[in-house]
Amino acid sequence: MSALPQTAAWSIDEHQLDRTASIEAKLRFALRYAVLAPSNHNTQPWRFIVGSDSVTLCADRLRALPVIDPFDRELIISCGAALFNLRVALSYFGLAYAITLFPSRADPDVLAHLRIIDGGHCDTCLAPLFQVIHQRVTTRESFADEPVPPATQQQLLDAVEAEGADAICIANAPMRESLAELVAQADRIQFDDPRFRRELASWIHPRRQQDGMPAMSAGMTVLLDMAAPLLTSIIRTFDLGGGLAAAHHALAAGSPLLICLTTPTDGAPAWLTAGQALERLLLVAANAGLTASYLNQPIELAVLRERLRTILPTDSVPQLLLRVGRGGPAPHSPRRPLADVVS
Ligand SMILES: Cc1cc2nc3c(=O)[nH]c(=O)nc-3n(C[C@H](O)[C@H](O)[C@H](O)COP(=O)(O)O)c2cc1C
Repeated sequence: MSALPQTAAWSIDEHQLDRTASIEAKLRFALRYAVLAPSNHNTQPWRFIVGSDSVTLCADRLRALPVIDPFDRELIISCGAALFNLRVALSYFGLAYAITLFPSRADPDVLAHLRIIDGGHCDTCLAPLFQVIHQRVTTRESFADEPVPPATQQQLLDAVEAEGADAICIANAPMRESLAELVAQADRIQFDDPRFRRELASWIHPRRQQDGMPAMSAGMTVLLDMAAPLLTSIIRTFDLGGGLAAAHHALAAGSPLLICLTTPTDGAPAWLTAGQALERLLLVAANAGLTASYLNQPIELAVLRERLRTILPTDSVPQLLLRVGRGGPAPHSPRRPLADVVS
């Protein structure tokens, strides 16, 4: 019998912070919120180096996904999401900061250096998002057949724009259908590749307890009744693309709202922007009682990423494709111990 995934990180209580503690202690506490950010395959590809008044965020490329994410694009997006949570927590605790992005010319793994300074940036409008950091969860089941009101859609767009990215809301049925077909096509291509299946299998529970995803993340709810230890072998060995394509097609076409998050340019700075914009959007959605899930498959394949641009249409660069709506309860995924990611 394997150990249960480590989800204790989510039982966080802000009152555990001693408000008279040192800046360094407060930064360490705020990082408990940073690590609740989403990450591709729940790889949690980040490291934080804490000083007396600073945090340096580094990409942990040992946790890269070379098949699905060969340029570490989603890896850096994930780090951006963690940085956003850190900003929200600091804003909530009333700590003003200054951030330098990519501070080291020599080391591209150093993504951001944040320093607490009097008179620094204190974004009061981020503070209300603090209470939903631990409520946000990726929900992979179908959503209620209930439109997302235009005013809420606008809030989501505003959230993304505030971080320097853009988003396109897609609510009309024919357009959702076109995107659903693209997602299904991407599923078939990805699952046809044994290297993709092997990489995915290595990040599926029960093989992992502190990171990785439940089997349903791969759309495999139907297989969950089978002997769990066999599951990763099944993913690794068999091309399940056809079945998953159909399942994801139904989820994409049936969700009330799809959102494509884009950036004006591509490359590491744009990915870090996209990650912060993603988490801001997800927290604003959670605040509105909504949840989200990912349909990134077409963006992960260069040829379909181009096709997506023509369907939308947009001159910007697609970074993430999400479906958004009202979902039922979903379990939290595990997080690595803080000691493994903070030094
Ligand atoms: C950049 C990025 C890409 C992701 N892509 C997918 C995806 O294609 N399919 C999926 O089911 N989840 C995707 N996710 C969601 C992660 O699997 C999820 O965040 C992770 O398992 C942790 O779970 P949580 O979001 O509930 O905390 C992605 C997340 C990020 C940040």
